[in-house]
Amino acid sequence: MARVLITTELPPGSTDPLSGHEVVGAGTDVEAIVCQLTDRFDAETLDRYRELRTLATVSVGFDHIDVDAATTRGVAVCNTPGVLDETTADLAFGLIIAASRLFWTVEADLRAGLWTGFGLLDRLGRDVHGATLGVVGYGRIGRAVARRAAGFDMAVLHHSRTPTGEPGFVAELEELLATADVVSLHVPLTASTRRLIDRRRLALMKATAVLVNTSRGPVVDEEALAEALEEGRLFAAGLDVYEREPAVHTRLLAAPRTVLLPHVGSATVATRTAMARLACESVRAVLAGEVPATCLNPAVLA
Ligand code: GLV
Repeated sequence: MARVLITTELPPGSTDPLSGHEVVGAGTDVEAIVCQLTDRFDAETLDRYRELRTLATVSVGFDHIDVDAATTRGVAVCNTPGVLDETTADLAFGLIIAASRLFWTVEADLRAGLWTGFGLLDRLGRDVHGATLGVVGYGRIGRAVARRAAGFDMAVLHHSRTPTGEPGFVAELEELLATADVVSLHVPLTASTRRLIDRRRLALMKATAVLVNTSRGPVVDEEALAEALEEGRLFAAGLDVYEREPAVHTRLLAAPRTVLLPHVGSATVATRTAMARLACESVRAVLAGEVPATCLNPAVLA
C-alpha cells in the first residue's frame, strides 16, 4: 500500500484503480501524486516530495510540469492523451462556428435589449461551410477537428513541425496563415510554440479570417490579437485558453467579435471522468511496477 496525494476533487468513481492505496489530500510524504494543470511542478516543488515515484496529471498538456527535472529525480510523469480528443475537438468546432457567426456579440445585443427587429444587413458573420480551415498542430485533436470540418465541406490545410506526407500539409506556417479563412491551434505549449502566433504572423492572416485557440494561451500574443480585432485586421476570435489564467487580458475582454470561454475544452462529465480514471490507472500501474501507456518519461521505469 502506498500513500497517494490527490490535489483536487476527482469525478465519482475515477479513483477506483487506487483502491488498496491510501489517498490523502495533503502532505509531502507520498509516493504518488495525481494533479491538475493548475498545479505547477518545477524542480524546487519536486524536491519537496522525497519519496515521490510518479506524478500523473489529469490533462493532456504537461507544460506545468518540468519533465526533465522529474526524470532526473526518477519520477515517472503521466498525462491523459487520447481520451479527450473528441470532446476538445467538439469545443474547438463550436468556437469556429460561434466566432464566425458572432454568437457572443449578437446574443449580448439580444440580452441587452438592442435587438429591435430583423435586419437584412445586421449582424452578418462569415460562412463556415465551404471555408478553408487551417489546422496548426496535426496531432490527435487537430485531426479530430479536421474530421468535423469535412462534414462542413471545408477545405482543410494543416501545418506541423514534422511533415505528415498527407494531403493538405503546408510546410510553411506563414503560408497556411495567409491562406486559411479559419485557423485553429492544436499545438502543445513548448519553448518553440510560445508566441507562435505573434504580431507578425497575425498580420499575415486575412482581415476576414477567424482565429480559434483551444491549446494553450501563451501560444498567442494576446495583446497583438486584441489589437488586430480592435483594428478590424482580423474578423473574429474564439478562445478557450489564456496567457495568465484565470486572468483574461482586459483588451481581449473588450475586443469586438470575440468569444471567450473559461478553459472548458475537455469539460464534459464523461471525458473528465475518463481523464481522471486514466491518471489514477497510470499511478496504480507505476506503483505495481508496470509501465503505463501514458508515461512521458518511461526510461525512469526501466
Ligand atoms: C487541458 O487543457 C488539458 O491539457 O487536458
